[in-house]
Amino acid sequence: MILRDEAGEIRAHHNVCRHRGSRICLDEQGHAKRLVCPCHNWAYELNGSLCAARHLPESVDQTSLGLHPVAVRVVAGLIFVCLANDPPEFAVLNTAIINQFLDQFSRALAPDVHATLIWDGAGFHRSHDLKLPANVSLIPLPPHSPELNGLENLWHDLRSHCWSNRTDRDDDELFDVASDSWCRYGLDADLIKSVCAKNYIPTRS
Ligand code: FES
Repeated sequence: MILRDEAGEIRAHHNVCRHRGSRICLDEQGHAKRLVCPCHNWAYELNGSLCAARHLPESVDQTSLGLHPVAVRVVAGLIFVCLANDPPEFAVLNTAIINQFLDQFSRALAPDVHATLIWDGAGFHRSHDLKLPANVSLIPLPPHSPELNGLENLWHDLRSHCWSNRTDRDDDELFDVASDSWCRYGLDADLIKSVCAKNYIPTRS
């Protein structure tokens, strides 16, 4: 469940009651002052803490029975959720993040698809700890060859259309502008395809 609590903070909780594991929220969306389990009416505050539990003996510590939280991060209006018990540091791009990407990418492919990724020479792309799924192959780009890397076009496009001829009040504003434009581009698959097109990469409709 992803919600905004009474303090305005975005939170995510596993949709599992701490009493007997029933699903608490059965609707896809809505408003609620509290999260009440339909099974035996255990109730939780929006921050996940248990606030009412029928038949719970007084000897049981109620504070230890809050909803299990899920790691969440909001960037430029997009909500990122990580179900891992130990979520990776959001702002760091390293081999662990790349392995996570490769794993998710590989699982998203149809069973009869083998994907080939064009890979630049960043350290986290070449690490010995990289775990390459069986249905993915990498084509490393030669060093110092940005003209072969379609993704480099994205930087030029962002600089010329979003980040040029402007002043930003401070780092926060700069971060917001960068995040907004990245998200706008990232959510527009056709724009990415057209900006990053290289004539040596065949395209399929
Ligand atoms: S399973 Fe939720 S209150 Fe019992």
